[in-house]
This record gives sequence, structure tokens and C-alpha cells, in this order.
Amino acid sequence: MAGRRWPLDELLTETNRAWRARAREVAEKVVRPKAAHYDRVQEYPWEIKDALCASGLMGVWIPAEYGGGGGGVLDLCLVVEELSKACGGVGVLYAVNALGSFPLLLAGTEEQKRHYLPEIASGRRLCAFGLSERGAGSDAGGLATRCEVGASELIINGDKKWTTNGGAADIYTVFTVSDPTSMSRRLSAVLIEKGDPGFAIGRTEDKMGIRCVPVVELHFRDCRVPADRILGGRPGVGFKHAMMTLDRARPGVAAQAVGCAQGATDLAVVYCNQRQQFGQPISGFQMVQGMLADMSTQIEAARQLVHASARALDLGAKDVTRMAAQAKLFATDMAMKVTTDAVQLFGGYGYMRDYPVEKYMRDAKITQIYEGTNQVQRIVVARSIIKQAASLEHLKAYIPLPDHPNTLADRARAPVAPAQA
Ligand code: CAA
Repeated sequence: MAGRRWPLDELLTETNRAWRARAREVAEKVVRPKAAHYDRVQEYPWEIKDALCASGLMGVWIPAEYGGGGGGVLDLCLVVEELSKACGGVGVLYAVNALGSFPLLLAGTEEQKRHYLPEIASGRRLCAFGLSERGAGSDAGGLATRCEVGASELIINGDKKWTTNGGAADIYTVFTVSDPTSMSRRLSAVLIEKGDPGFAIGRTEDKMGIRCVPVVELHFRDCRVPADRILGGRPGVGFKHAMMTLDRARPGVAAQAVGCAQGATDLAVVYCNQRQQFGQPISGFQMVQGMLADMSTQIEAARQLVHASARALDLGAKDVTRMAAQAKLFATDMAMKVTTDAVQLFGGYGYMRDYPVEKYMRDAKITQIYEGTNQVQRIVVARSIIKQAASLEHLKAYIPLPDHPNTLADRARAPVAPAQA
């Protein structure tokens, strides 16, 4: 498995392949043997985080000038896929540090970048992203957490929900309402640190999947931080920063989904070769072969969409929103189907907790929900294609109006004029 090389690997650079190989080694040596344990106990795997730090993987996406690996979104996705093949929870445990630090990379002041990024890159400090609230999930603009912006300090009051990595994290990018009277400049992101006065971690959720990474509530009660903690040094641009961050992070969720699907399929293929029924391995049956072929094809299609969207982001392409949403949408729906099919191939054993495959299905489910539900991704994609239809105006000439009898069929039915004598 370690030496497996695909024809499409030729599209990856040496550096891409080196990051992936490093991630694969940590995944096989450290993550896979412990995945079932941390799933059962639902505790943060500090030993796995230490192994990720020791391997230099923690800052892959952070530029070298801030102490990172100098890789891009594609490198991040390659690492996330490898980790998720062994454990989907570890995939997000890692990727959420990118989600939490992308706002800094995209919009932080130079001082903010120099202060926070080197410690994030080394893994000494972990990150989280605080956007969702009890009453504001898909409607990211509908937040209620308030930030009063003073000359020297910010005062934050409110609560956040579904903060992945909360509690383990040291740095939180928290989205707040800084101007409730404005429609377009309502939100601001604030950098919150563990230990800030008035900031507390609340309830830790008991989850279906990704159980090794905590998902918590955050509480702010007159939380006072210096004014220079406002992201980018100016209020009112929080919504755009949140959306730009999600554009960059969604291929990572898609890579997590591809990893879960590939991990489950790898186990299923091995099982189908070994499991004997009717006097032969079940991999000899055409219906099983058909399932395996479809699973593998769907994974490959999703993987290439992930890589293409990541490359577009790395190249600084404009209007990547649609493609990032498409990668997330397609890969995560695919992962739910493929991991469910993998359980099916294991039959009754697949449904049991002491077999490794049902965990992939549980871990895959959240990828359809977080960082924007797949219903939100469909809104994003549909809005984009409808907007771009302006460039297709020339096709109108080929589409007859409903009361205009000029289709080929209408013309064929039209009475033929009598021939002139
Ligand atoms: N990049 C830059 N700007 C953007 C943008 C983007 N991708 N998307 C929108 N904007 C801008 C728009 O141009 C617009 O700007 P103007 O006001 O200047 O015209 C403004 O933002 C408002 O845009 P919309 O009208 O499209 O906003 P909307 O209210 O209709 O919302 C939405 C659109 C797509 C539904 C958005 O709210 C959304 O993505 N919701 C999902 C939120 C989400 O993903 N939450 C997950 C949180 S993270 C998580 O899961 C937790 C975790 O820990 C893993």
C-alpha cells in the first residue's frame, strides 16, 4: 500500500508527493493503530498531535516566512486525505487548524501574522473557528454574539456553538456583530486566546463520529481583549472574511471525505478477497465487483475535483467559490454513499463496532454538514451558475419563445403552399 502509485500521481509535484508520503507514514504508524481507541473513549489524541508536530506536518499550509511548510491548499488536502484514510476524526483534528488560521493568512495584519502563525505552524498552539451559533448555522450573517469596539479594547458577549477543536485549541477566530445597525458591515472577526478574561469553554458534545476531536460551545461574558485583536485591524469585514475562509477550507473537508471513502474501500477490498461464500472469495461475484468498481470510480472523480479546486486556490484564481463548493458537495455526498456501500460489503460484520468499517460511515456523515451543509453548497453553486448565465445570452436566439411556432417540428407540420401554376 505504501508504495502505491497512480497514473495521475504524475500531476503532483515532488513536493506534493513528499508531504503525502510523510502523512501516510504518520497515518499508518500512529493513527490507524489508535483510531478505534480514541473513537471509543472520545478523547483528544495528544500523542497523535505530537506525532504530527514531530513530522513537521502541522504548518504545511503556512508560508515559510511565518515558520510553516510553505505548501498550499493542495498539500493540505493531500495530508488530510491520508490522515482520514486511517481516521476521519484525525483528518479534521488536523484540518481545523487550517480553518482557524486561514482568516489570519487571508486578512490578518502583519503584526497578527508574525505573532500567531509561527506557533500555529509548529503545532505549539492549536486553532479553532467560531462562527456558528445556536440560532445561526447556515445563516452565517444572522449571528448574535456582540463585540463592542472601543479605542483600546473590545468587549465580547454571547455564545458560539459547534466549535470543532474547542478546548484543545489555544487560538480562536471568533465572528461577532460589531455594528448591529449595518447590513453590509455588520460582522467582525476577533482573535481570542485561551485564558482571556470572560472567555470560557462550555458543553462538550457527545457525537456520532469524529469522536477524537472535541466540538464545544464557547461562552463570552464581558470578555475584554485589546483592540488590536480585531482581524485585519478594522471592523466591518467579518462576513467577507468568513466566506473567503470557507472557500479556502472547503476542499479540505472534501479531502477528508475522499480519505474516509478510500479508507473504507481499501478495507472492503481486502475483506472481499478474504471472505468466502459459496466456495469462493466474494470478490469473485459480479455484483460485488460492480460495487467496488463504482466506489473506486466515484472516489477518483471526487479526488480530482478536490485537487483541481485546491490548485485553482493555490494559483490565486478568481471566483473559486463555486468550485470549492462543488468539491465539498460532490466529495462528501460521495463519501456517505461509498462508506455505506463498504459497510454493505462487510455484511452483518460491517454493522458491528468491533469491525473497523462502520466508523468510516459515522465519520463521513459530518462532512455533509459542517463548513456549510450540502444544501448551502447547492445554493452557492446555483447562484453562481445563474449569475454566469449572462455570458450565455447568445443562446437565446436558439430557444424559441413558447408562442413562437418556429421549432423544427412546427415547421414540418406547417401547411405547404400550393405550387404555382
Ligand atoms: N467571498 C467573498 N465575499 C463573499 C463570498 C465569498 N465566497 N460570498 C458572499 N460574499 C459577499 C457577497 O458578495 C456580499 O457582499 P456585498 O454585501 O458587498 O454585496 C455579502 O458577502 C453577502 O453575500 P450573500 O448575499 O451571498 O450572503 P447570504 O446571507 O445570502 O449567505 C450563504 C450566503 C452562502 C448561505 C452563507 O451564509 C454561507 O456560506 N452559509 C454557511 C455558513 C457555514 O459554512 N458555516 C459553517 C461554519 S464552520 C463549521 O462548520 C464549524 C467547524 O468548526 C468545522
